[in-house]
Amino acid sequence: MLQTLLLTSSLQSLTETRDSRLSRRMSAIRVVQTQCLRSGIRSVSLVRTPVALCRAPFISNTCAFSARTIRMTSSSANARVNSLVSHLGQHTGKLLQGQVAIITGSGQGIGKAAALLFAAHGANVVVSDIDAAKAQSTVDEIEKSDGGKALAFAGDVMKEKFGEEVVKATIEKFGKINHLILNAGFTNDKMIHTMDDATFQMMLDCHTVAPFRVLRAAAPHFRVKDPERRENRSIVYVSSTSGTHGNVGQLNYAAAKAGVVGMNKTTAKEWGPFGVRSNCVAFGWIQTRLTAAKEEGASIEVNGKKVALGIPGRGKKDTANDVNATIDIPLRRPGEAAEAASAILFLASPLASYVSGQTLEVTGGRGI
Ligand SMILES: NC(=O)c1ccc[n+]([C@@H]2O[C@H](COP(=O)([O-])OP(=O)(O)OC[C@H]3O[C@@H](n4cnc5c(N)ncnc54)[C@H](O)[C@@H]3O)[C@@H](O)[C@H]2O)c1
Repeated sequence: MLQTLLLTSSLQSLTETRDSRLSRRMSAIRVVQTQCLRSGIRSVSLVRTPVALCRAPFISNTCAFSARTIRMTSSSANARVNSLVSHLGQHTGKLLQGQVAIITGSGQGIGKAAALLFAAHGANVVVSDIDAAKAQSTVDEIEKSDGGKALAFAGDVMKEKFGEEVVKATIEKFGKINHLILNAGFTNDKMIHTMDDATFQMMLDCHTVAPFRVLRAAAPHFRVKDPERRENRSIVYVSSTSGTHGNVGQLNYAAAKAGVVGMNKTTAKEWGPFGVRSNCVAFGWIQTRLTAAKEEGASIEVNGKKVALGIPGRGKKDTANDVNATIDIPLRRPGEAAEAASAILFLASPLASYVSGQTLEVTGGRGI
């Protein structure tokens, strides 16, 4: 989609270049225009804005920017434009134009919905999943659309080198990273008295250790000291209401998903000074294979071991432990993967430019 940046001015006449002040302004604006074009904005218009219109909040922002260009060196103009460019999506309909996102576990479910949505908003997406065929299928769908580009990256997030390898592949393909969506995960439920150490540890490995390694590998791309090189960058962790409220049969998963909430606050504090936002979404009941009936037989194979997925009794009426109840959900229904993805997009997008360190519960109101 064509992006247009309107550089506005409240001056009476920008064309009277006999005035040296105006002349300086015009050349500063030309620097900005060039930089915009380099940043992928294909059309840059200079428009005169009547003073009255300049009082509108949106316009006055751009006017303030334009007015400031008088005193800008070309390098400070570049820095300002870089920051504006990364926020322009708000006004063009595409929220992540030209940005690069790694989304783990995006072969299906919430991760896939997020990959499709991010790409539709102009992002280049690294579609990473333990299931190579599903990752490729998500990429194929993205390639057929008119959004961003995509790269399939197959791998188990629990492998020691996964973080380093996915970051390397992303930089080789797209040259930068704007967003880490730490979504890959599964459940391995057991009651406390029947849970062995390995089952407990597996959840910590998948939901906390694996994201930690991705973060560590990506750190050089987020701890950017030079403000000129900073764009919209964020981390979005995927947690669960099992982590924020606890859940029967999920001591391991709850511990891991609660850990994610603390990791999020730490990333927000450690990388915030580099302009990086970090947030977390804690989902309630989102309809994916993870929350489908266990009897449907879905499973995931990790480390050569098959782990059954799903909720026992889901879909059956009058089960003793009524897992189908929506009475405690104010919206009276489970959520769709696309709705979950929208919450992730919001947190990664410039719409949340002053939101950091938060855990957003996406539950249809359950648990308030
Ligand atoms: N569905 C829900 O109601 C719900 C609720 C709370 C939290 N979550 C969380 O949302 C995230 C996505 O879950 P979903 O519901 O979309 O499930 P899903 O099973 O539909 O999708 C998960 C994806 O992650 C991949 N994956 C799983 N383990 C992996 C690993 N070790 N390495 C690489 N890829 C791996 C799977 O292959 C799959 O494509 C998970 O972290 C989950 O814990 C889901």
